[in-house]
Formats: sequence, C-alpha cells, structure tokens
Amino acid sequence: MDRKTIITGLGHYVPPKVVTNFDLEKMMNTSDQWIRERTGIVERHWAEPGVGTSDLAYEAALRAIEDAHIDKSEIDFIIAATLSPDHYFPGIGVMVQAKLGLKEIGALDIRDQCSGFIYALSVADQYIKNNTYKKILLVAAELQSANLDFSDAGRDMSVLFGDGAGALILEPNDSGDGLGVLSCHLFSDGRFVNELWMEKPSSKDNPTFREEFFHQGSFYPRMNGRTVFKNACEKMPQSVEFGLKQLGLTIEDVDYLIPHQANDRISLMVAHILKIPEEKVIRNIQKYGNTTAASIPIALSEAVKEGRIKKGMLLALTAFGSGFTWGSAFIRW
Ligand code: UT7
Repeated sequence: MDRKTIITGLGHYVPPKVVTNFDLEKMMNTSDQWIRERTGIVERHWAEPGVGTSDLAYEAALRAIEDAHIDKSEIDFIIAATLSPDHYFPGIGVMVQAKLGLKEIGALDIRDQCSGFIYALSVADQYIKNNTYKKILLVAAELQSANLDFSDAGRDMSVLFGDGAGALILEPNDSGDGLGVLSCHLFSDGRFVNELWMEKPSSKDNPTFREEFFHQGSFYPRMNGRTVFKNACEKMPQSVEFGLKQLGLTIEDVDYLIPHQANDRISLMVAHILKIPEEKVIRNIQKYGNTTAASIPIALSEAVKEGRIKKGMLLALTAFGSGFTWGSAFIRW
C-alpha cells in the first residue's frame, strides 16, 4: 500500500498590529529604502506585550482545524516548530494542547529554526506513514518582535523579523491517487552555529542569567548576514535538486516553489539558480517579513486560500536557517 501523508486543513494567523518600514525609521537608524532594496520587506506584524508564541500557534491551529472539518478531539498528536517559545522550557506544543483543551496526547517541539517546518513535516510524514497517528496538528509559530536589538549592532536582524503562525492537519491518504507528501530531505552543518544564533541564555554559564550579558546585548539574535545569505542561496537550491533527483523529477515538473521567506533577494536568487520562473515562486515577505519557522506554512496557507495552488500541482518547499539547518519537501497537492 502506497500511503501518503495528506494535508487536510490549513490555517495561518498574524497578530493585528502592522509595523511598516517607516515605523522602524522612528525606532532605529534605518530607512524604508534600505529595507525594501535589501530585503523586499514593506511591513510586518508584531504581537502586543502579553501575547505569547503559543497564542499565535493556537489561533492558527483553530483555523486549520476548521479548514479540515474535523472535531479537535480527533487530533492524536501535536508537532510544534518554533525558535521563540513562550518560555525557555517547556515548549509550546504542550501549551497548544492545553489551550485547545485536548486529551493527553503527545506534543513534540522541534528546534530547527527557519527549517523547523520542513523538519516537522518530515516527522509528521513518518508517523502517518507508519500508522502511529491519524490526525496530526503541525503548528509553526514565531514571536520575534519581543527580543530585537534596535541599536546599529542589531538593525540588520531587527528589520527582518515578523510574528505569525501557520498550522496544518495531516492525515493518511490510502486512496492511491498519489496526492500528499512525496518526500522530505533534511540537512545540517553545525560548524556554522555561531553565524546565526542567540548566544544567551547558555547552559555553559553558571549562573546562566547575568546582568553583564544584558549590557553586552548577548541575549539578542545575531547573524553574519553575508555568510547566511551566501549559504542560503547555495543550500536551498541544492536541497531542491537533491529531492528532484530522488523523485525522478525535474524543475519543469514543479508548479510552485515555496521558499522560506528569509529575504526576497534570496528567494529570487534561489529561483534563478534552479531556473524556475519568478511567477512560480510564492513570495509574501513584503507583508510579513521573515516569520522563521512559520513562513512556509503561512505562504502555503495564503496561496491555497487565494486559489493559486490547485489539486494535483507539484509543490517544492525549501528552507535554510540557523544551525545551519536546511532542507526541502515535495508535495503533490
Ligand atoms: O531566515 C534565515 C536567516 N536570515 C537570513 O537569511 C538573512 C540573510 N542575510 C540577509 O538577508 C542580508 O545579509 C541582510 C538583509 C541582513 C543585510 O543585507 P546586506 O546586503 O548583506 O548588507 P550588509 O550586511 O552587507 O550591510 C551593508 C550596509 C552596512 O553598512 P556599511 O558597513 O556598508 O557602512 C550595514 O551597517 O548596510 C548597513 N545596514 C543597515 N543600514 C540601514 C545593516 N542593516 C541596516 C539597516 N538599515 N537595517
């Protein structure tokens, strides 16, 4: 039996507050022109204080459950991807489980940053294929705006990020029609840990939380932008080509490429390297900024709701981020 994992529900949520590049001009030494030219971003959504990542995840989950036309009590497992959990521990999976009022099902948190969604999808795919679970809620959520450095040292990062969440319901498809997840391909190279990271808090420090770290700004995310840019442009196309080869497909077979929305220049470069026309690339970073693990499911959910993605289409998903981690996934919609 050729079982496939199929997406039966999709939803996304961004907090209502819109922050434009002009708003950022008032907060730090930057300009709308710089941000648009270097990243393609025009605006992003930021959560209000008091809202946590799990709240965004919950909202997206509700939408996916509604879209799947299931009762939430049917969900038998939760996978949550985020680099910005409400708390240092536990993760947000259990918080989503409690907010939804679900029974004592398992809740797994995935820590693979911008690639978190691809990693989460690959795990869900295995559970469904081997018949462990029948209705998985996969949610990817990110709340970055609460911890950004508005000084010149952090402005390269702080103009990029937005808050948001995307969620999926995944179920088995035994019909033999070939629709669903075709494959996932995961990669990492930990030599690049400190090229894109939040150094503190660190278990290496005893005590972990020290005032000097606040003064040094080491609780903020930091990145070597050019190294990340270069590697993202290299690794995302490589992982797509790797997957296509394994599946015996070519880039001409792909109807839509959905890259992690890290920077519009990266998305266009990835498309150029893969030789896929720009019209076949889903790009929504203009409105949301980089929502890290949530960016692909938000883009997927939006494109499906807009009617761009139709039954039978081949989707190639790819992501790259902190770790470094990267990967691709292929879905026959
Ligand atoms: O989600 C995965 C993780 N993130 C990424 O994939 C992002 C990857 N990297 C990038 O997208 C780009 O490297 C950035 C958008 C972050 C930066 O663009 P860049 O073209 O690589 O700029 P740069 O870092 O080379 O900086 C160019 C100049 C510098 O000034 P000087 O040294 O030339 O005088 C920066 O200080 O731009 C300056 N700069 C800014 N200016 C205005 C850096 N950030 C800003 C800013 N506003 N926000």
